[in-house]
Parts: sequence; C-alpha cells; structure tokens
Amino acid sequence: MRGLAGKAGVIAGGGRGIGAATALRLAEEGAAVVIGDLEEEWAQATAARIVEAGGKAIGMGLDICEPDSVAALVQTCIGTYGALNYFHANAAGATQGDVDALTISLETFDRSIALNLRSYLICTQQALPAMLEQGGGAMLYTSSGAAYGGAPWQVAYPTAKNGIHAMMRHVAARYGKEGIRANVVCPGLVLTEAALEHLTDEYREAGLRRAALPRLGKPEDLAAMAAFLMSDDAEWITGQVISVNGGMAMRD
Ligand SMILES: NC(=O)c1ccc[n+]([C@@H]2O[C@H](COP(=O)([O-])OP(=O)(O)OC[C@H]3O[C@@H](n4cnc5c(N)ncnc54)[C@H](O)[C@@H]3O)[C@@H](O)[C@H]2O)c1
Repeated sequence: MRGLAGKAGVIAGGGRGIGAATALRLAEEGAAVVIGDLEEEWAQATAARIVEAGGKAIGMGLDICEPDSVAALVQTCIGTYGALNYFHANAAGATQGDVDALTISLETFDRSIALNLRSYLICTQQALPAMLEQGGGAMLYTSSGAAYGGAPWQVAYPTAKNGIHAMMRHVAARYGKEGIRANVVCPGLVLTEAALEHLTDEYREAGLRRAALPRLGKPEDLAAMAAFLMSDDAEWITGQVISVNGGMAMRD
C-alpha cells in the first residue's frame, strides 16, 4: 500500500479484535503504531507482537471516554515518532439494558452514547490540532452494520453509530481543504473475541444466511480496508461510510 511506510499514528481500542488486526497490518506496511486500550496488557501484547516482528509499536492504557487519556496517546505518538499521520477511533461496547426505546433508561442511553459516540468526538478533538499543524492526516472511525440494520433489540448502540457517520462527514467537510480526510468503516458480523463471547448458533446462522459470501468476517478483512483508508492510496477518498460485510447488506 502506498504511503504508510514511515508514517505514524494511533489506534484507540487496539488491544484485540479489529483494532489489533489493523495495528498488525499497519506495522506490516511499515507504519509506526501507538495502540491504546482499556485493557493495557492487551495493548502491550499487540505492540510486543509488532516489535518482535521488527515493526514499531507502543502499547498503552486508554480510557477513550477521557480527553486526557486520548491526549496521552497523541503526545506519545508525536513525541516518539515525530508525527500523527492517522488516527483510528475503534473502541466501542454494548451497554447492559440497551434493549428497546421504551425500556432503556436515560442513564443507560447516556452511558452508551458516551462510550460509542462522545468518545469519537474526544478522539477528533485530540487528534485534529496536531494533524492540522502538520498539514493533514487521516481520521478513521469504526461504525457497524447495526447503524442501518434497524435491529428491534437495541436502540442506543445503533443510534451512536449513526451519529459517528454524521460527525465524520462534518470533519471531512470542515477540514478537508486543510488536508484532513475522514472516513467510516462499517463491519458486518466479524468473528472477533468480543463477537464470539455473545454469538449464538442461531445468530451466526442468520448472519451466514444474510451474507452473499459463504463465510463471516475476519478481523483481517477490516484491517485491510482500514489500512487502505489511512494510506495514500486513498488520498481522494473522504466523507465516506464504507461497508466490509461479505454482502450482508448492499447499499449505494
Ligand atoms: N465484531 C463485529 O462483528 C463488529 C460488527 C460491527 C461493528 N464492530 C465494531 O468494530 C469495533 C471493534 O470491535 P471488535 O469486535 O474488535 O470488539 P472488541 O470489543 O474486542 O474491541 C474493542 C476494543 O476496545 C476496547 N475498549 C472498550 N472500551 C474501551 C474504553 N473505554 N477505552 C479504551 N478501549 C476500550 C476493548 O478492550 C477492545 O480491545 C467496534 O467499534 C465495534 O463496534 C464490530
């Protein structure tokens, strides 16, 4: 991929799953990666795999809901590698009690929005000043097919994910002339550790029925798109929501 070798950036939520696979792929392409995760040891383990393979990576503890914690990743990246060329906001989580519009409490709704949407604004606010100062950079946000799936069993999480799409378009439109690109990657059902913790046979089979291709997703499927969107091969791509889902949903 063009233009990743020698670049540096951050993955917020890269201790395992899609974020870890993306960190490994970026390092393979020659980029340095600062990996943050609530589970500090997971972030450090991913970084150690990269360093053992000859790449450049640092693993750090992160609470993506806290501006100072996100700022520490940005400062470490700039302090260690001299630039912040890309930032991938990827952490997310389900919230107990996020069931439907009539039963969810306002506290539960607020908790989900804080983790799954407000946190991505925090990432934007912490990353953009450095990128603007250096003349540009690539923001990438992870959403979900849940944003447009119309699921009857969850309300706050898909609402938050849709909010990311609007925020990403704002960032792309507002800062594009200053060299900032912003995109969203939207996974279908990907067999990460987190997904496997909750995946019933019934849900897996329903996913396979919906997919056009004969398997569910692997973290590496998302990592390839994420690395592409943060590379110079994507230098004319901005403001887009790009689905990587084996054809589980087909959209213009
Ligand atoms: N796996 C799927 O099928 C699927 C489908 C659609 C969307 N997604 C999205 O892809 C992204 C990654 O998902 P994944 O399946 O790899 O799940 P995951 O839960 O394993 O990955 C998220 C990572 O974020 C970390 N994290 C959680 N809360 C955090 C916090 N407050 N601060 C910092 N880090 C925190 C977790 O420890 C974890 O390492 C998420 O945004 C998720 O919504 C996944």
